[in-house]
Amino acid sequence: MWIITEKTFDPISQHHKETIFTIGNGYLSTRGTLEEGYPGEHRATFVHGVFDDVPVVFTELANAPDWLLLTVLINGERFSLKSGKVLDYQRELNLRTGLLTRHVCWQSPSGHISTLKFERFASLHNQHLLALRCQVTPEFNGEVEIRTALNGNTDNEGFTHWDWVEQNRENQDTLYLINRTRKTGIKLALAIRLLGIDSLQPDYWDVENVPTFRQVFQAGCGETVTITKFVGIATSRDAEVPQALAIEAITKSQNWDIALKENEQAWEQEWERCEVSIEGDDEAQIAIRFNLFQLLIAAPRHDYRVNIGAKTLSGFGYRGHAFWDTEIFMLPVFTYTAPHIARNLLDYRYLTLPAARQKAHQAGYEGAFYAWESAATGEEVTPTWVPDFHDRKKLTRVWTGDLAIHISADIAYGIWQYWLATGDDNWLAERGIEIMLETAKFYVSRAEWQADKDIYTYCDVIGPDEYHDHVNNNTYTNRLAQWNILTALQILDWLREKYPQKTTKLTQQLNLTPELLANWRKVAEKILLNKHPNGLFEQFDGFFALKDVNLADYEPRSKSMHEIFGIEAANHYQAIKQPDVLMLQYLLREEYNDQEIRVNYDYYTPRTDHSYGSSLGPSIQSVVASMMGEVDVAYEHFILAARADLRDIRGNAGDGIHAASAGGTWQALVFGFGGLKVGSHGWSTHARLPQHWKSLSFRFFYRGQLQKVVIKPEDLR
Ligand code: BGC
Repeated sequence: MWIITEKTFDPISQHHKETIFTIGNGYLSTRGTLEEGYPGEHRATFVHGVFDDVPVVFTELANAPDWLLLTVLINGERFSLKSGKVLDYQRELNLRTGLLTRHVCWQSPSGHISTLKFERFASLHNQHLLALRCQVTPEFNGEVEIRTALNGNTDNEGFTHWDWVEQNRENQDTLYLINRTRKTGIKLALAIRLLGIDSLQPDYWDVENVPTFRQVFQAGCGETVTITKFVGIATSRDAEVPQALAIEAITKSQNWDIALKENEQAWEQEWERCEVSIEGDDEAQIAIRFNLFQLLIAAPRHDYRVNIGAKTLSGFGYRGHAFWDTEIFMLPVFTYTAPHIARNLLDYRYLTLPAARQKAHQAGYEGAFYAWESAATGEEVTPTWVPDFHDRKKLTRVWTGDLAIHISADIAYGIWQYWLATGDDNWLAERGIEIMLETAKFYVSRAEWQADKDIYTYCDVIGPDEYHDHVNNNTYTNRLAQWNILTALQILDWLREKYPQKTTKLTQQLNLTPELLANWRKVAEKILLNKHPNGLFEQFDGFFALKDVNLADYEPRSKSMHEIFGIEAANHYQAIKQPDVLMLQYLLREEYNDQEIRVNYDYYTPRTDHSYGSSLGPSIQSVVASMMGEVDVAYEHFILAARADLRDIRGNAGDGIHAASAGGTWQALVFGFGGLKVGSHGWSTHARLPQHWKSLSFRFFYRGQLQKVVIKPEDLR
């Protein structure tokens, strides 16, 4: 249950498969394109933090120079899946080790048959090392020619980010290439070292921006020719002379077997911490491993200046920008299974606090208003305009960068959860508290007082449900803002007791006088919450007065309700994109009793666009259904989330992994079916398993100790 397999190559689904077969190591990811190339492919490698400017959407991860390129000529005929005949084909991604393998039995146009095997991995042991091995076995006596290169002529769907800087042959079997991003000036160096069974004497072709090695072998019938390509990669973000680091990585590695072994050992340690096993459901088992694998290969282990984009590093979608997807959907996986990675992600928010302060200031507020879409600096990079669904020539205004103010509280919530699970007081005192106080300050300054009712409101916002914009008093936003203010005050009390000196320094630095803090409490207590006497929350002012809609009337459909109604008109209906009130009740689940959740669950569930709305929705819907004891329904939503990419549920997996859904899938298992509850005094589980599951096991860290939970149906009776 560790292998994702593809048995035939279908050009129609090649972009989807490129995403599925992405490999990576937390420093970079490379999409699963074929070494030799294929027409129409979306070939890409994304390196964390390597952003460059681009019109309209401000900045994007620059598709790095290509390290994969490898062409095989067999008796002068170029190997390609496009020509000749593919007699046998199999591609496998080993989730346990990150090794991607492809076997092809190929008949050339002139009828010569050969077997080719390609293997590649991005070393988790040394993040600057990539490895590719190609083995060719002809069924005839002949010549096998291998050309392999570094290719600096890459682009982001037509847009070029790179200037050529330098290339050279370092020695007999080593060459390098340096490029620089055009606007941000980041240098990226790649270096190749070729290894064969015997020593190689490759020709060097000094093609500008495509330095190439060419090696010709004479092979007898049934004899295997092997070439190993080690690639070193580094940028000026890592070292002043990146080519030195790149060359060091490839010289350190002695051979394929050793490099692979070191990589496997590193992976073993990863899985030791986060392994989830589900007996009785092979699909769920492989899917959770796949989703975890995708998060693990995107997770920065040695860099706290970067975050994980909504599509990880696996595609062009959302251009590498990070959203609330990180703190609310992905972070819990790391907080509980790899706290050092969680801390890196939160450090990024600390590092980008100045940009969040700046955004608040520019909008006329105080404190920290984080970017809805964040990249290298933390400045707001949400595009202001995007093409309309129905008419690509028309532009639609995107408001999330201005109005999705819940992002600041989402980050504060992530910090709080991290602290609860890890007990990392030091980090909270040094960094986390400052973020929480600054976001609290923002919410106090953003609240508007309605004198006649003596309440504070948040007008003109967008909540998690983005089918409705410019709404007033979105319950999720209001309550999380309130939670943020009150929790910041609570942590400040804790800080005062535990770190008095730090408290004095911080309160002076942030100008937090006792009067000001007293006012914060007053504001927080008077924030409007649209709660009806029976416990039902109105998603925002006037939601219940909108046209009601029976989503079943629109079935069967293959479009979201947003597309069906149109962006403007969707505002007038009660159809929602993803859980909003329920999302809140999930996050603050300790505060609501079953009846209070039930009434909202019953109201909002039928009005949610589960299958075509946001991919963030199903996993959360699943946890809430589990909380309600509706295990079958929870399973339906869970499996929808688990399949998001493997089955390309929304038809856009080619743009990259749905990272929030991947993180949500883990939450649906651990907090939903596993019923894990974590508090300051320990943890407990209240499990409910789908009927066909024979067991569910998962692991997590609580206060530095690895906990192993095994749940079996017989223990629940
Ligand atoms: C969702 C947002 C999400 C974004 C990035 C949007 O479609 O509505 O909640 O943050 O995608 O994944």
